Amino acid sequence: MRAAPDGSLPLRQSVTNLRTDRQTCRESAFPVTVHPVPAEWSARAHVDAEGRAEKYRRSIEETEAFWREESGRIDWIRPWTRLSRCSFDEADFGIEWFGDGTLNVSANCLDRHLAEHGETTAIIWEGDDPARRRQITYRELHEDVCRMANVLRQLGARRGDRVTIYLPMIPEAAVAMLACARIGAIHSVVFGGFSPEALAGRIQDCDSRLVVTADAGMRGGKAVPLKANVDAALEHCPGVEAVLVVRHADNGAAMREGRDHWWDERRAAASADCPPEEMGAEDPLFILYTSGSTGKPKGVLHTSGGYLTWAAMTHHYVFDYRPGEVYWCAADIGWVTGHSYVVYGPLANRATVVMFEGVPNYPDFSRFWEIVDRYQVNVFYGAPTALRALMREGDEWVSRTSRKSLRLLGSVGEPINPEAWEWYWRVVGEGRCPIVDTWWQTETGGIMITPLPGAVDLKPGSATLPMFGVVPRLVDAEGKVLEGAAEGNLCIAQSWPGQMRTVWGDHARFFQTYFSTYKGLYFTGDGCRRDEDGYYWITGRVDDVINVSGHRMGTAEIESALVAHCKVAEAAVVGMPHDIKGQGIYAYVTTNAGVEPDEALRRELVAWVRSEIGPIATPDVIHFAPGLPKTRSGKIMRRILRKIAENDTSNLGDTSTLADPSVVDHLVTTRAV
Ligand code: PRX
Repeated sequence: MRAAPDGSLPLRQSVTNLRTDRQTCRESAFPVTVHPVPAEWSARAHVDAEGRAEKYRRSIEETEAFWREESGRIDWIRPWTRLSRCSFDEADFGIEWFGDGTLNVSANCLDRHLAEHGETTAIIWEGDDPARRRQITYRELHEDVCRMANVLRQLGARRGDRVTIYLPMIPEAAVAMLACARIGAIHSVVFGGFSPEALAGRIQDCDSRLVVTADAGMRGGKAVPLKANVDAALEHCPGVEAVLVVRHADNGAAMREGRDHWWDERRAAASADCPPEEMGAEDPLFILYTSGSTGKPKGVLHTSGGYLTWAAMTHHYVFDYRPGEVYWCAADIGWVTGHSYVVYGPLANRATVVMFEGVPNYPDFSRFWEIVDRYQVNVFYGAPTALRALMREGDEWVSRTSRKSLRLLGSVGEPINPEAWEWYWRVVGEGRCPIVDTWWQTETGGIMITPLPGAVDLKPGSATLPMFGVVPRLVDAEGKVLEGAAEGNLCIAQSWPGQMRTVWGDHARFFQTYFSTYKGLYFTGDGCRRDEDGYYWITGRVDDVINVSGHRMGTAEIESALVAHCKVAEAAVVGMPHDIKGQGIYAYVTTNAGVEPDEALRRELVAWVRSEIGPIATPDVIHFAPGLPKTRSGKIMRRILRKIAENDTSNLGDTSTLADPSVVDHLVTTRAV
């Protein structure tokens, strides 16, 4: 393994676009209380404090022996002999783990459990409609995966081909992912909330030949017309040869002869025998699109052996999981959390997984906790945004349920403010359940900074300590590595098996985005504080990425959607603090000459962005501005726009370099909310 850099190396690229004016819910006045690990947690845990420290030490100092052991939780067809070849330097840049090993990911999630545990429930599904429920054993899941794998082959999918999956949270989503893994096809799951335009872009970028979708998905009693969205997207995707459609809502979706196929009809005729392909550890498993500071979303590529090892290992330790327990991750499979902690990690560990199609407030605000009681859920893993929304509705919705089965609670996707943490702890967990605040990213494949429940004292709002094999570094804007208690930009100094391997179709962009800012380090894009106990506190993104309800979005994407509207001349989008969503979307818009901005245009632009990207990108504020604050060289000063959006206009900093400083006064006086 490479040694960590000392930080004295020169910077490769200017980092002046990175934020230094962070304001997040971390700056809450809530006092920090420490929750020490009770003896009963450490007694039942896979590792206690000592065990954790020893494993962490081994992961860094005896790397090969450590990974030999941990990768042993995976069944290899041909065991690896070469641990890793990783470099974050431009000259010999590359990431490879377990390179000469072979395996099949679906066989690890299914086949190996069958002999003794085939009748164990793999998926407990609860529909948006509480009356719709299904339970699927490992044997049944295996059969369906084999059938779908055979159908995908009949429709032309081969090893290495890309298959786009655009499905609601139904068991067929896991079936489709595992069916791809079985035949070596690369899946690209697109969140069902994305618009036809966003879907088309993702299909085109990776040249998918096949799409798996459903007639519709259900959310909060309303149908989301997925098949109609696919039809609209495919107008722009001539490369797609076939669409496999799961019948779910029976909404009479139109089918195109020769291209579209009902899954239930093909399933009835398909064989349940499909031997798994032997795949190399570094063969691609999936692509998942995620937003960055610039340009269109990137296709993050994860491969097979390292990713599965990381997903399974982290699921095992972080949730302290033991087979037989009921485990529920409330994330959608359209996001990386759904990949690693609804499907791959838990199924590799033979978990019984709850899968929920609906939303936390339908039919009412008790829904989550009723599901917990109904299935006796032991582990619940969800996003702060949902907790904040539920917290606002009052404790009664929670307290009228039992929740006695709960043993552990998790949080993911965005900073959890201490108020929400304490509510989760006190009201949901009744002071019994450890809370694991897990920091990670699409790019990291799995959890990176997190408490281990039997080992790490908890501090509300802190993701606490690094996972085994993770070496965090905090650096200042000049790239100097900071020691001890400090605040800076969060980097990771050496590779770990779950790390992304490339940006699909653009390896140079992979290097440029993550490794060129600070030489020899992976730059996460997050700001972070380390306290005197070595605990990490994520303070939010320092680049032009915003996190709305745990959904990651590039401000550039929303800006390009806005300027694509015929009445818009220019747009600048920034995040604003939002009580429930964490961050909201604040858009400054300059209209074309002769266009009078009014309420009707505001509504039109909001609807436009929703149709271009999807409802998750709905702007919270549209601020019509005759001009934007620009430097004389024409660069928009986002720092000022952020301050105005945050309603922090008392100290706008130096505005003397602006071409026209009066623009700022105008924006301040016309601020909408
Ligand atoms: O800013 C961090 C935030 O979410 C970003 C990653 O988003 P995404 O790739 O969509 O993955 C989300 C699910 C892992 C990070 O750069 N983030 C994620 N988890 C946390 C977090 N911020 C604070 N605390 C967390 N626990």
